[in-house]
Amino acid sequence: MTDKPSHDQGKPSHDASKPPPPSSSTAGHSTWGGRFDEQLDAVAARVNASVEVDKRLGEDDVRGSIAHVRMLAKTGIVSVDDAQKIEAGLRRIGDEIAAGEMEWRDALEDVHMNIETLLTHRIGEAGGRLHTARSRNDQVSTDMRLWTRSALDRVRAKTEALMSVLLVRAEHTIDVVMPGYTHLQRAQPVRLAHHLLAWCEMLERDRGRYVDAHVRLNESPLGCAALAGTTFPIDREMTASELGFLRPMRNSLDASADRDFLLEALSALSIQAVHLSRIGEELVLWSTQEFGFVEMTDQFTTGSSIMPQKKNPDMAELVRGKAGRVIGDLVSLLVLMKGLPLAYNRDMQEDKRPAFDAFDTIEDCLDVLAGAIATARFHDERMRRALREGFVEATEIADWLAAHGVPFREAHHVAGRLVRRCVAAHKTLPELTLAELREEHAAFDESIFRAMEPEVAIERRDVIGGPAKNRVLASITALEGRLRARGVDARGLAAERGAR
Ligand code: ARG
Repeated sequence: MTDKPSHDQGKPSHDASKPPPPSSSTAGHSTWGGRFDEQLDAVAARVNASVEVDKRLGEDDVRGSIAHVRMLAKTGIVSVDDAQKIEAGLRRIGDEIAAGEMEWRDALEDVHMNIETLLTHRIGEAGGRLHTARSRNDQVSTDMRLWTRSALDRVRAKTEALMSVLLVRAEHTIDVVMPGYTHLQRAQPVRLAHHLLAWCEMLERDRGRYVDAHVRLNESPLGCAALAGTTFPIDREMTASELGFLRPMRNSLDASADRDFLLEALSALSIQAVHLSRIGEELVLWSTQEFGFVEMTDQFTTGSSIMPQKKNPDMAELVRGKAGRVIGDLVSLLVLMKGLPLAYNRDMQEDKRPAFDAFDTIEDCLDVLAGAIATARFHDERMRRALREGFVEATEIADWLAAHGVPFREAHHVAGRLVRRCVAAHKTLPELTLAELREEHAAFDESIFRAMEPEVAIERRDVIGGPAKNRVLASITALEGRLRARGVDARGLAAERGAR
């Protein structure tokens, strides 16, 4: 844009610190100068405008523009004097945006035009030189990459905080035993800490995906302009490094057309949403009277409007439910991008709502789960009682026989027959007498009863990845060490969230 917005031309002057009055550029076309006679249709103007959503890019837009104008000065494309005026004007706008004082105008379409128009309104002709050698296409892509890069860092940090909570809770509940499940049937005894660390491992992979996505998106589109670069002697290396990007993107068409950095980020968010929903589901189940394994505090539960006795695990349910939203955001973006020809298409303006929503949703979910888990009360007795029912000792019996020379397949049958006897006699496996056990296999001796104790069964699973106490403690130490190596103070973060 070389032409000045029409409101600067012979209009009565008003407070120059304010944005131009809306009447001066109501329906967009006054912004675009010579090509247009008529105003944009009112509905078209509403469909066209994105500032309500993309104003969130304001500070990143200012940052990108400052890098751009410094480069324009250094390469002599604009005068140092103009560049200084522009930078000072942009800094002031940046401060106003940060303070929530910016008056955004729909009539100016998007975040970019709002900022540039206000700048030009304030500093005059120099403002019109900012957009030399760039386009809104490389500008918006730069802004979105800057925004997404910080957002990825935020969800990474919140993921680490939730991991920290789990590590501390695992350590403090190291002696609590519970049934592990398959098919949601009680299967074998494990430690609660082992279960909490399983959640931690899921989160550790989520974290890795955020780091990977950060590295891959960290290239600069700035200078690719509308689609084919520019005739001006720009310095793309300079703007890339000013903005903390590793390098300029290599292909101008790709730079203007690419949104797979968002697809990748939203894929990672969706996978984490699925993980958080599984954790949410377990907390819901464990909070039921049927399980009774956990009770979340009043801070993270709600009552019923009709049933006075209820204390519902709404936060866990909402985390479970919000996965649908995040996955929906990813699907929106995939469908949006599918089949778009190179390079930029206006469809891509619709990328922002799902991107912002997915990040916002995951940030909230991570925070609320960290708080809920940090403060939850685990009911050790209920977990131990659940171990007494459900014949979770059956594998121990089969293993014991196999270790005493009986082929495992046969041992498995013997244990199965013993379970059947117990069902018929309304007994638990440890309640069988040695004589009864021997009726099924002569190899049994007194030591089988000790093998059936949950702690013994767990301690004998002393293998890499197993629930034996030393293995779980080593996992806690290892995970905490990994976090520390990344500069994360797990204990501090857990304490901040109220973990005991
Ligand atoms: N608001 C636009 C977006 O978010 C900025 C880019 C507009 N580019 C254009 N050629 N109309 O996509």
